[in-house]
Amino acid sequence: MLFEAVALSHRYADGCPGLDGCSLAIRRGSRNALLGANGSGKTTLLQHFNGLLQANSGSLHFAGAPLDTSRAGLAALRRRVGLVFQNPDRQLFSASVVEDVSFGPLNLGLDETTVRIRVAEALAAVGLAGHADRPVHHLSFGQKKRVCIAGVLAMQPEVLLLDEPMAGLDSAMQSELEALLASLTAQGITIVLSTHDVDFAYRWADDIHLLAAGRCLASFAAGDLPQHAEALRQAGQSVPAIVELQRILAAHGLIAALPAMPSLAALLPALTSREAI
Ligand SMILES: Nc1ncnc2c1ncn2[C@@H]1O[C@H](COP(=O)(O)OP(=O)(O)O)[C@@H](O)[C@H]1O
Ligand SMILES: [Mg+2]
Repeated sequence: MLFEAVALSHRYADGCPGLDGCSLAIRRGSRNALLGANGSGKTTLLQHFNGLLQANSGSLHFAGAPLDTSRAGLAALRRRVGLVFQNPDRQLFSASVVEDVSFGPLNLGLDETTVRIRVAEALAAVGLAGHADRPVHHLSFGQKKRVCIAGVLAMQPEVLLLDEPMAGLDSAMQSELEALLASLTAQGITIVLSTHDVDFAYRWADDIHLLAAGRCLASFAAGDLPQHAEALRQAGQSVPAIVELQRILAAHGLIAALPAMPSLAALLPALTSREAI
């Protein structure tokens, strides 16, 4: 396991519980969706994974060892585990795109040529190759978000944490981001993202971790989601539209069994059958 959280609890300074006995595990190289309603603890958990927040009780292991929260330990952790904030304005602070994306690799002490190559690669990966010299404050929300991702990719992390990456993006930008995530997965990078979009979680993730009130109610392979309808309901989530459609078709005898991972293409023969539903 890459991350293993056991009974993790975090109380904010005002006494509000951010996490309340959260246990879950993240497999190396997998795509993970932390799925939950607002306030369920997704952001708090992601910030534990890169040591930005520390638990009041419980344990968190990374790569088989307890998370090292010394200054040097946290610096080493953040080289391996990159976090992209939900709000790009919290993450971007340099005047230009190239300065912002260079900041992390320069901090690693890499030489200028290596930094230049890494920055160019990271900007190309997020589709911003021609934007290096633009002032950050001239960029659109979606472009700012991509600069944030480039800044983390330039560190060449093993794990990418993304807080609500799809929020505020139009559907074309969401598709581009999904394609980028697919290429990162193909490179072996472990991805953990938060979302409240059950359809996206079902379509994209290997593992779904259902969060509610600071706890993980259930972790399951995305393909097993239909068996967790009750836990989804408890977490304030609906069943994905494609799963609901499949259930209705099955209830009317238009499909025999529930296929493992339904898609519109798989359901098409039933949808186009002449029998009335
Ligand atoms: N800085 C903070 N101070 C006090 N309470 C907070 C703070 N950030 C989050 N919380 C509380 O912690 C709980 C979990 O929040 P959060 O992790 O932001 O959830 P999510 O990302 O799923 O919306 C919520 O009850 C929220 O109000
Ligand atoms: Mg959040």
